[in-house]
Amino acid sequence: MSDQEGSRGPMLFYTPQVIDHFTNPRNVGELAPEDTDGYACIGDPGCGDEMKLWIQVRDGRIQRIAFKSYGCPGAISTSSMLTELASGLSVEAASRITDDDVVNALGGIPENKKHCSLLGVQALQAALASYHDKRQE
Ligand code: FES
Repeated sequence: MSDQEGSRGPMLFYTPQVIDHFTNPRNVGELAPEDTDGYACIGDPGCGDEMKLWIQVRDGRIQRIAFKSYGCPGAISTSSMLTELASGLSVEAASRITDDDVVNALGGIPENKKHCSLLGVQALQAALASYHDKRQE
């Protein structure tokens, strides 16, 4: 057993940015149905974590974004950072955000938590798809 492991397993080292976004997540909440142009609910079957994401689009840009997440510190902090990165972007630019962008903006995340950043990116992609579907109706 290494020095970093105790009876509760290995310690995870989170950056100050991760701790900040986990303890003070941005854009938490939901948008009213009449304000919602895109919505998605994404779950990670591997761990049971879940994220709901709402977007409001005006003039082709994400004007408002909100999320609710049930999950680990990695899920909460990456979801929060994702909303900061996407806010104000054009829908095209927002669709190009990657999980690496989110992780890098947080100054890194423990290796075994990297999959958590997929939750937000996949939710954003699905919310953008629902926005495009709505526009075609
Ligand atoms: Fe499930 Fe982090 S452990 S998203």
